[in-house]
Amino acid sequence: MSSYPVLRMRRLRAHAWSRAMVAEHLVTPADLIWPLFICEGQGMEEPIASLPGVSRWSVDRIGAKAKEARDLGIPCIALFPNTPGGLRSDDAREALNADNLICRAVRTTKDAAPEVGVLTDVALDPYTAHGHDGLTDAAGAVLNDDTVKVLAEQALVQAQAGADIVAPSDMMDGRVGAIRSALEQAGHVNVQIMAYAAKYASAFYGPFRDAVGSRGLLKGDKKTYQMDPANADEALREVALDLAEGADSVMVKPGLPYLDIVRRVKERFAVPVFAYQVSGEYAMIEAAAAAGAGDRDALLVETLLAFKRAGCSGVLTYHAPVAARLLS
Ligand code: PBG
Repeated sequence: MSSYPVLRMRRLRAHAWSRAMVAEHLVTPADLIWPLFICEGQGMEEPIASLPGVSRWSVDRIGAKAKEARDLGIPCIALFPNTPGGLRSDDAREALNADNLICRAVRTTKDAAPEVGVLTDVALDPYTAHGHDGLTDAAGAVLNDDTVKVLAEQALVQAQAGADIVAPSDMMDGRVGAIRSALEQAGHVNVQIMAYAAKYASAFYGPFRDAVGSRGLLKGDKKTYQMDPANADEALREVALDLAEGADSVMVKPGLPYLDIVRRVKERFAVPVFAYQVSGEYAMIEAAAAAGAGDRDALLVETLLAFKRAGCSGVLTYHAPVAARLLS
């Protein structure tokens, strides 16, 4: 093997055309999934203070967002409802209402831009009065098996409304299998499951909880169901189980602090892996840019490239429309 000065690593980097020619990874708008928040009302745009630049949109305005995604080449949007307080309950029954906010938003987006995939979150936190992703017992402990039954029904309601991908984000045991069999029995054989397989109990979800209105409600934390940030081998067991139960693709969440998990999952299972660049990560980039610590556009494109390099098929990011404009 030759070495300096015969070999100069800087030779390939000397010109833009040459750097482009040897680039190992590429980010395009097709790598992006755009999460959108929905609120009740007419003609509404509600800015979210902890997510500067991100708003909740009422159903009558969400069709325009789906069209924007289509025009930007973003293949998929993810919808999250801000359920009014009066409709939240201990049994989360609003999650099963075929005319709830999320179902209306799914129908509207599929009407407006049928060529854009629609992903819905399967978890009870937008619907529970206590802000947990599942049902609780009298002592407040989150119940696994009772929750899984409701989640399977929730996924069916979303599929019936037209969701293309259901994404269980609840971290209950056995929910992917239960959802898959419910979908099969109802004839929704082509509705995909993107499992939040390795979802950590993270401090990076704060602005999201503001956005869906569960932050003030949450009693305690989610550590009995979401993963411990100390663990990595455990993520591989979670992914193996979700794949065995019928997940079409898996997700790692949060994103940037967990790229080691993305890489190990990709190497071990060779399946489509997605990462969720979560609300706190978005807020960090925006705060850094606002403080003059870095250029927002450059920061976000670099992070997206890092996801691709780690092995992601795509990234859920609130920066999706900004990134798509920069990349096309
Ligand atoms: C709810 C859910 C959460 C996120 C996506 N689905 C929050 C949580 O688990 O508390 C977080 C997304 C983000 O922070 O951007 N099950």
